[in-house]
Amino acid sequence: MKITSLEEYQKTYKRSIEDPEGFWAEIASQFTWKKKWNKVLDWNFTEPRVKWFEGGQLNITENCLDRHLADKPDRTALIWEPNDPAESTRRYTYKQLYQEVCRTAEMLAAHGVKKGDRVCIYMGMIPELAMAALACARIGAVHSVIFGGFSAQSIVDRVQDARAEYIITCDGANRGAKEISLKSIVDDALEDLDIIKHVFVHRHTGSETRMIPGRDIWWHEARNESINDYPAEIMDSEDLLFILYTSGSTGKPKGAVHTCGGYMVYTTYTFINVFQYQPDEIFFCTADIGWVTGHSYIVYGPLCAGATSLMFEGIPTWPDAGRFWDIVDKHKVNILYTAPTAIRSLMSYGLQPLEGKDLGSLKVLGTVGEPINEEAWFWYHDHVGKNRCPIVDTWWQTETGGILISNLAGVTSARPSYATLPMPGVQPVLVDEKGNEVLGNPAAGNLCIKAPWPSIIRTTYRDHERCRLTYFHSYPGLYFTGDGALRDEDGNYRITGRVDDVLNVSGHRIGTAEVENAINEHEGVVESAVVGFPHDIKGQGIYAFVICPEKEGNDQLRKAINATVDLVIGPIARPDRIQFVTGLPKTRSGKIMRRILRKIAEGEMHQLGDTTTLLDPNVVEEIKKGRIE
Ligand code: PRX
Repeated sequence: MKITSLEEYQKTYKRSIEDPEGFWAEIASQFTWKKKWNKVLDWNFTEPRVKWFEGGQLNITENCLDRHLADKPDRTALIWEPNDPAESTRRYTYKQLYQEVCRTAEMLAAHGVKKGDRVCIYMGMIPELAMAALACARIGAVHSVIFGGFSAQSIVDRVQDARAEYIITCDGANRGAKEISLKSIVDDALEDLDIIKHVFVHRHTGSETRMIPGRDIWWHEARNESINDYPAEIMDSEDLLFILYTSGSTGKPKGAVHTCGGYMVYTTYTFINVFQYQPDEIFFCTADIGWVTGHSYIVYGPLCAGATSLMFEGIPTWPDAGRFWDIVDKHKVNILYTAPTAIRSLMSYGLQPLEGKDLGSLKVLGTVGEPINEEAWFWYHDHVGKNRCPIVDTWWQTETGGILISNLAGVTSARPSYATLPMPGVQPVLVDEKGNEVLGNPAAGNLCIKAPWPSIIRTTYRDHERCRLTYFHSYPGLYFTGDGALRDEDGNYRITGRVDDVLNVSGHRIGTAEVENAINEHEGVVESAVVGFPHDIKGQGIYAFVICPEKEGNDQLRKAINATVDLVIGPIARPDRIQFVTGLPKTRSGKIMRRILRKIAEGEMHQLGDTTTLLDPNVVEEIKKGRIE
């Protein structure tokens, strides 16, 4: 499965494009299937319909767990580093993790969870989160993990959209000096929801927790600790594995759907190749399992590959900004996979937190989630990798399930701020505004993909039309990523960022419409418009232009608006800047000209372009004057 030289990459890539079915069938046959597929691939991007390994039967957890029991039951599958460094690390061998997952699966099944049911998981970064997801997969239930930083209202939206009847949570989560009462947030969410049959509660922080008899179930009471095995449900390759909600340019987040077979094959294949994983290496992905990176490269990819995956409960700056480096040294981490925003944030503390850290175990560094600027790239390369670790800049999305464009560590060349080359089986194209492919190098355009790879999004849950319109409609016959990109003379891709109304704030994807809707929930607000602006650490910050009748606005109102955003979405969507305005630049047909607001937010006041089509050009002058630095 592993590509180990540039020539091999080129040969493999060529083969994967000329004969995708033969190529992926060969990779897929290295997994455990209960029944082999009848057809490798069936697709069109019009409906769209994509089916990989149709007729094949499997259970992904047998590939993550059972199949390792024969030859490496005692290899560490999961290392857990707690928030508080004074607390003990936990380790699970493949055998132990298998048993934990079986016990959790049995608990869920005993309380009525069955194949096809949707289960929301709202937990901190603790091993039980991985166990809960795997337990769902084992019994064929569809998990929908909700990031622990989201609000009660966000839980309501996701539970309703997924029609979930079960939630798995814990009493609280530790994040740095803070403790977040997850269970009470779930309770708030459930005040107005009557579709939840059971809430499974894992005791983690030990904080006082209200339990509703009949509905709420303690994990430690319900699990039968004497159970060591639990049969894996037989799943069809195209049965749903999970739903993960992600933001788009309009409306509420949509549920990206991933299915069992293709997702398993692709995440494992990319994990092994991009990071050049070797047995017994320790892989530390700093993402939260609430995001796709955690799904694919903390849980499924590494475990299917028989790797040792390290998960960390806390944050990079607590108790101090040397925490990541302490973890690397403590556990002799070989591969570190993190986000540019974390690197920039740690950079801002200078080199002192790195003093006295060895970091000698590191072999490969990775980044994901947003474009990495050259300064951050070199800092990571020089001070963390000590000039000897290749950096892989991995570009992908919730919808792609796995990494689509990246160099392969030490095998294909890196180029700072470039994700570089496509993975085997992936055919990127750049298109211009009219949808014509931009040929030749160098080139610039909107990034699309020509044909399906095994872990491509299948649908948006219960709304296939939304999936079609969002990804397959702008450029017929192509999957549209929503990103812009450049391609250099050698065919390397550089992702320049979103070309739609989606922001990337600290690597978190947030729709401007979503933030506007949240701000508008505040009773004092008449209308708002949200755009991004360059932010030294977060990559993008959130700039909100808000109209409210008390036209001056004030700090108290700002706080109240932030509190509303916290309630509707969560603190990650809080605006960095709120400017009160009396009007917004609108065309005569009432459309807000965001281009102008973006330029003002970015500080490029002299490049506003044509404003003559505005209903009231004076508004622009007022907004320019009131701009917040
Ligand atoms: O804009 C791209 C950016 O993150 C978006 C996907 O966000 P999400 O679905 O939350 O998944 C993030 C983790 C896979 C993309 O459309 N993005 C992701 N990785 C990179 C990136 N931008 C530039 N370089 C990357 N390596």
